Amino acid sequence: MNVMVTGGAGYIGSHAVQRLLADGHDVVVVDNLFRGHAEAIELLRTRAKGGSRLSFEKRDISRTDDIEAVLRERRIETIMHFAAWTYVGESVQNPMEYYANNTAGSLSLIRACERSWSGGHGGVKRFVFSSTAATYGEPPADRVPIREDCPQLPINPYGASKLMVERMLADMVSAATRAGREFGSACLRYFNVAGSDRTGLIGEDHDPETHLIPIAIQAAMGKRSEMTIFGADYPTPDGTCVRDYVHVEDLADAHATVMEAMRLGRSVAYNLGIGRGYSVREVISAVERVTGRQIAVKSGARRAGDPPVLYADPSKIADELGWRASYIDLDQIIATAWEWMRKHPEGYRS
Ligand SMILES: NC(=O)c1ccc[n+]([C@@H]2O[C@H](COP(=O)([O-])OP(=O)(O)OC[C@H]3O[C@@H](n4cnc5c(N)ncnc54)[C@H](O)[C@@H]3O)[C@@H](O)[C@H]2O)c1
Repeated sequence: MNVMVTGGAGYIGSHAVQRLLADGHDVVVVDNLFRGHAEAIELLRTRAKGGSRLSFEKRDISRTDDIEAVLRERRIETIMHFAAWTYVGESVQNPMEYYANNTAGSLSLIRACERSWSGGHGGVKRFVFSSTAATYGEPPADRVPIREDCPQLPINPYGASKLMVERMLADMVSAATRAGREFGSACLRYFNVAGSDRTGLIGEDHDPETHLIPIAIQAAMGKRSEMTIFGADYPTPDGTCVRDYVHVEDLADAHATVMEAMRLGRSVAYNLGIGRGYSVREVISAVERVTGRQIAVKSGARRAGDPPVLYADPSKIADELGWRASYIDLDQIIATAWEWMRKHPEGYRS
């Protein structure tokens, strides 16, 4: 299949590209490289074997004409859309940047997709969107584990910017189906994504880094003198927040599964998580165990909008498509992140 991966030079997108190439698909990565890494694409080219091809277009998804041209030229049938700004705090400071890039950028991409239908190859038929558990906001305790029918009430612009895209896709599928056009979409709501490619080729390299596991590993490596636990007085067994950590390769596997199984004419949503939570203290202890190093930890105040416990009920995708996370053990997830960060202390610059 010919697949366009937006944001394919970023953390999760690059892992999805790796999986698509392994499955024999032809992949076009579209990334403006604001937060992605050209090095990841170069490394992935070495994996493009067995007849599959990888090409790179340094473009912005907001350029509808450019994207339409790529969709037509490369006869794209599926879009996997990862490109976005992803920092909650930044979204609170600069909400319009988030609505511009995540919401209006996605609208531009969807428009390009719509225009591709008049092309000779029939245009895009499948659209897989990187959504987020942040669309659920702060669900009440009795809605955790979170199912897909939990009300989506985001509490920050990042979550809201993504929820609007879910809505656009659902409306687009309805309109396309009414017009007799074959088109389907899937919104995959990720919980906390973690880990790295088990072969050690690509990994997580965010600047700034805001995710707990790489921050704890950086502290273990001495790249940070200490790390902060934001709130140790939550109503959880050890007082710290509990989250669901899903391995990035399991996520890539879920994308491949959803793409293959997608029923045209339907717009679906699935939660992607392991279905259990680990506390911040459990994560820090696991990083100490895996790295064999001590981490200096200080206590800080709670952050606004951090619910005590968030984890997925991933049974819908398990029941409908048979997908389950293969990494459940926290130490194993962390070991893959540690392996990459140990060998690449400066990320892709190493
Ligand atoms: N990392 C997580 O834990 C997590 C959790 C839930 C959802 N998500 C979603 O997954 C997706 C990928 O996240 P990530 O952690 O890999 O982020 P990332 O920042 O590593 O990757 C995003 C990529 O998109 C590119 N990009 C951004 N705006 C663009 C634009 N306008 N045009 C072209 N390229 C653009 C960036 O350069 C970057 O390479 C995002 O949509 C994010 O919202 C991530």
